[in-house]
Amino acid sequence: MDYDTFVSGVLCFCTLLGLVEWRSNFLLGGVAQATASQEGNSKMEKWSANDLYISKQLIPDDDVLSTALNSGKQYTTDYEISSTQGQLLYLLAKTKNANRILEVGTFCGYNTIWLEQALPEDGKLISIEYEKAYAKTAQANIENAGLSDKVTILQGNAVDVLKTLIHNNESPFDMIFIDADKPSYPEYLKLSLQLSKSGTIIYGDNVVRDGELCNVNSTDEKVKGVQKFIQEMGKIKTIESTTIQTIGIKRYDGFTLSIVK
Ligand code: DHB
Ligand code: MG
Repeated sequence: MDYDTFVSGVLCFCTLLGLVEWRSNFLLGGVAQATASQEGNSKMEKWSANDLYISKQLIPDDDVLSTALNSGKQYTTDYEISSTQGQLLYLLAKTKNANRILEVGTFCGYNTIWLEQALPEDGKLISIEYEKAYAKTAQANIENAGLSDKVTILQGNAVDVLKTLIHNNESPFDMIFIDADKPSYPEYLKLSLQLSKSGTIIYGDNVVRDGELCNVNSTDEKVKGVQKFIQEMGKIKTIESTTIQTIGIKRYDGFTLSIVK
């Protein structure tokens, strides 16, 4: 064998080895990715199964809530809180002996009803919804459930409605639930503070957004909105706040909880 034949033989062998290695990396990478996504799916199934288990043990069936939940399905299944989170809001409002609750973002009234159920007979809940169709469905749910005395739905741009409430010297609320368009959260927080008093609870929904909250390079306007919301929250000296990450039927998300000093 001459030198040239030897070198080209070695090169050919190396190329083959390289191809085999590349091919096995490619295949194994594919397998690893498939396994990761199967793991992800099975984790999500487990989160949901546990939410259902907890719900079954601790949360009574409620026709009024089921009707409101079903009415939202014509639009999306995304916007309602889970029943375990609904029960948390209810317990928070009860702990607070809340008499006046403000909700920013009604959707079809499911979350509203959770909050309303914590109010005493003479309690009052004001809920703001921008989308006319959602507000109409929510109003029908509230009327059908006989809750019109306690619940008022105001249709309109939430910033404008909040400014009107402030301008009209609306009495401060015991609890404020922010669950509307995420880019406006910082503005909702600022205005909510003007409708608060010492001890008011402010709860902000959907702030972890599948873990994107800490992605400083995110270009998603919703993520940028909740990042600014939490940054502002940290700077405001008149409130004390935290953020809790959650998993369950609503996937990976989280909420903020603040109390006015
Ligand atoms: C979104 C908003 C919500 O209020 C919610 O509960 C889930 C998702 C959203 O805008 O992505
Ligand atoms: Mg929400």
